Amino acid sequence: MRRPIVVGNWKMNMLISSSRKWVEELLNISDCAGTIDIVVAPPFTSISVVRQYLEGSKVLLAGQNLASIAEGAQTGEISANMLKDAGCDYVILGHSERRQYQRESDGLINKKIFLACQSGLNVILCVGESMGERNSDKTNDVIERQLTACLEGLSEDQLNSLSIAYEPIWAIGTGNTANPNQVQDVHGFIRSWCEKSLGKSLSRVTRILYGGSVNSQSSPALMAQPDVDGLLVGGASLRSKSFYDIIKSSF
Ligand code: 13P
Repeated sequence: MRRPIVVGNWKMNMLISSSRKWVEELLNISDCAGTIDIVVAPPFTSISVVRQYLEGSKVLLAGQNLASIAEGAQTGEISANMLKDAGCDYVILGHSERRQYQRESDGLINKKIFLACQSGLNVILCVGESMGERNSDKTNDVIERQLTACLEGLSEDQLNSLSIAYEPIWAIGTGNTANPNQVQDVHGFIRSWCEKSLGKSLSRVTRILYGGSVNSQSSPALMAQPDVDGLLVGGASLRSKSFYDIIKSSF
């Protein structure tokens, strides 16, 4: 019922030349056609070349961020419409790195989600707790607070295209993948929050992804969990072969 999805988030990595090579290599290994959604989120500067080289494949594009207003005098920002115009179908919002380094609040992320929906982008909303919050048993409280504030005021129509990525901060870029039981516990909590707050039918279709040091060794057991519908991959998505190995070993 929920189509599996694997997203590669390149973060602030890859020049135009390496982006092009990545796509060529990936499409050489596989045509990526199948029963899952494969999405790549390059930096803004590589979106155009990745789009060009992906032409004719089933791999979709995502932006890593967008501006909190629709258009105008915001030097250095990229709008939702610009991402759509550049060929993106998805956008990643609320990533913990943006919350931490750019001080993005839940309220700001909420504004961005509205703009993304208006432009027809599918939102991947990231949530997750720090190690300190986990150790003091606050994980579910943090997730609930983030979900409630980031999704406030959105209509059922807008929420239809939402995916939620659980990314515990302590697992990102550390090599410490959360274990499958920890992941299922939180995903189960997110699913029940969706049912309570968004309704039964939305809770059935909302995809919940896990992200945090995923590799091809950890991915099969993660994907085997009933509430894990996909993966959000950082470091291991930077090489086409390891990204492909994750896809191949998980489905
Ligand atoms: P890593 O896979 O490098 O831990 O990054 C995860 C992430 O933040 C994806 O958005």
